[in-house]
Amino acid sequence: MSNYPYEYARCLDMDQIEESSQARSLEGFTPLLSLLEACGALLMILVAVWTICYRNGFSWKSNPQLEFNWHPLLMTIGLVFLYANAMLIYRTQRNVRKRRLKLIHAGMMLFIVLLTVIALVAAFDSHNLATPSPIPNMYTLHSWVGLTTVILFCCQWVAGCVSFLFPGLQSPLRASYMPIHVYFGVAAFIGAITSCLLGLNEKAIFTLKEKYQTFVGEGILMNCIGLLFVSFGGLTVYLITQERYRRLPRPEDDVLLSR
Ligand code: HEM
Repeated sequence: MSNYPYEYARCLDMDQIEESSQARSLEGFTPLLSLLEACGALLMILVAVWTICYRNGFSWKSNPQLEFNWHPLLMTIGLVFLYANAMLIYRTQRNVRKRRLKLIHAGMMLFIVLLTVIALVAAFDSHNLATPSPIPNMYTLHSWVGLTTVILFCCQWVAGCVSFLFPGLQSPLRASYMPIHVYFGVAAFIGAITSCLLGLNEKAIFTLKEKYQTFVGEGILMNCIGLLFVSFGGLTVYLITQERYRRLPRPEDDVLLSR
């Protein structure tokens, strides 16, 4: 005698168990992601408020002091906010095909490189074009950590493109490179957050001098921005490193990019 109804019910049960265990493993993801995006938006707004209201806004080579202001703003938008979102894209866009996600991920990273180059030109110009005499380059800890981070980020991008977008590379090779890519991706992000904290702190000390000790508005705003960098960075690293929030592999994921 056929046991079809029994088998059918068992399959339904298994599907439900799988779905509910997946839903349970994703618990907390959406609220934490919303908190992260809120922190990120507030962070970019406060950096814009600081540069516009306290540092007199933006210019380009004609006024190197104002040209500098692009540096913190573009670094915050690119190497912090967009970088976090580009890393998280496989977890936030679960239902989009992986092939498409890879292209968006790489495209966002390329856009971040562009913003970073403009931000670096602004910082170097503000030193080289300073009057009455130029300021030396690359003497601070901030600039050393910052440039190391940028170099690591660029190497990651090139290695990522070769490994995951180049159709000729074999799956086992890609799979063995994946943990390295994830590790250095997170490391460069932590480097970016660290650079921002170092840069912000030295800027507060350079510009506010002894006024910093008197709890002036600008100093308090800069400290709040620093705390937001830490919160945003902490939340991002948490969401990226939680195994239970990983995007589940799909059958079509193994299809080569060229197909
Ligand atoms: C990931 C983010 C960042 C990176 C990679 C980065 C990188 C750099 C580099 C390489 C320089 C050297 C320029 C030179 O020597 O002429 C520099 C300068 C500078 N940056 Fe940043 N920066 C970042 C974010 C920030 C932020 C958020 C601030 C906040 C105000 C900041 C403040 C400064 C200041 C004051 C200088 C000039 C003094 C110095 O050379 O240390 N940076 N940055």
